[in-house]
Amino acid sequence: MLENLPYFQRHLPDDLARVNVVINQAVQSEVALISQIGTYIISAGGKRLRPIITILAGKALGYDEQKLYSLAAMVEFIHTSTLLHDDVVDESDLRRGRKTANNLFGNAAAVLVGDFLYTRAFQLMVESGNMRILEIMADATNIIAEGEVLQLMNIGNTEITENEYLQVIQYKTAKLFEAAAQVGAILAGATLEQETALKNYGMYVGTAFQIIDDILDYSGNPDEIGKNVGDDLAEGKPTLPLIYLMQHGGEASKDVRHALENADRSYFAIIHKHITNSDALAYATEQAKVAVQNALNCLDILPDNETVQAMHQLAKESLARVS
Ligand code: IPE
Ligand code: IPE
Ligand code: MG
Ligand code: MG
Repeated sequence: MLENLPYFQRHLPDDLARVNVVINQAVQSEVALISQIGTYIISAGGKRLRPIITILAGKALGYDEQKLYSLAAMVEFIHTSTLLHDDVVDESDLRRGRKTANNLFGNAAAVLVGDFLYTRAFQLMVESGNMRILEIMADATNIIAEGEVLQLMNIGNTEITENEYLQVIQYKTAKLFEAAAQVGAILAGATLEQETALKNYGMYVGTAFQIIDDILDYSGNPDEIGKNVGDDLAEGKPTLPLIYLMQHGGEASKDVRHALENADRSYFAIIHKHITNSDALAYATEQAKVAVQNALNCLDILPDNETVQAMHQLAKESLARVS
């Protein structure tokens, strides 16, 4: 089992254990349903990518005090609350290899427990006693909300440009990766140059990560990714592989436009065929690779230590999910 875990999880078991202590404590509430649903989604696992990035950013600059682990847990709480809300919005029924909370406990409970985790995250943030960290997280969570609404506005949009798509994924996903790295850097007393480098590293890794995730919605194995494929198409979500097909005309473009405008799972087979018969996934993968290269370049100004090497590895492994 352990050998199947990504490099950075294999090599950071102690750090992850420390974050999990905070997470397991902070998810408790005297309201039983909150602890139950919170524990349900948190114990299902998840890659813990964002808290790992916070820890790596801090440790890259030689900081590993307890505050770093509390902040890392805070970042995972924000992420988990967005997942609870996202699965309601997307009507998803599988997450982390289990039934989603909305599927099992209903939409109302999932949304409300999402709110609990979200506000608990702000309590953890305040504990840091650092106003800049609060400011960064307040801005980041606000942008994530904008990203989700922007995405909603683009449902069924067959005219969306690649840049508009990139803005959506930067807002809804990359922003939290960016903030995760930046708060770790700030806690570690980074110089402005180091903070900017780590912040941009997070932003580029998050961008690559979401592009790959969008690819996996067409090419992934549900047993491996722990969620269903085809959800994006069923929702009418124009992701990069589809934008590529629409830009290249012909039968594929026509079929994609029709599928997006009539959002229905029954179009998956035909769209999947167009995707496999084209360079759509290769093109999207290439864009993710460019983002990873940009992330790696950001690390150049940081000290050359084991943690920074792990950050290299993490960026590269975000691509490995599709190769
Ligand atoms: C899922 O994120 C949401 C996206 C931004 C694609 P992860 O794939 O990091 O989810 P977990 O935490 O590992 O389940
Ligand atoms: C994940 O977005 C939620 C956020 C980034 C807020 P998606 O809807 O694209 O991801 P999955 O496929 O459900 O994990
Ligand atoms: Mg979504
Ligand atoms: Mg979703």
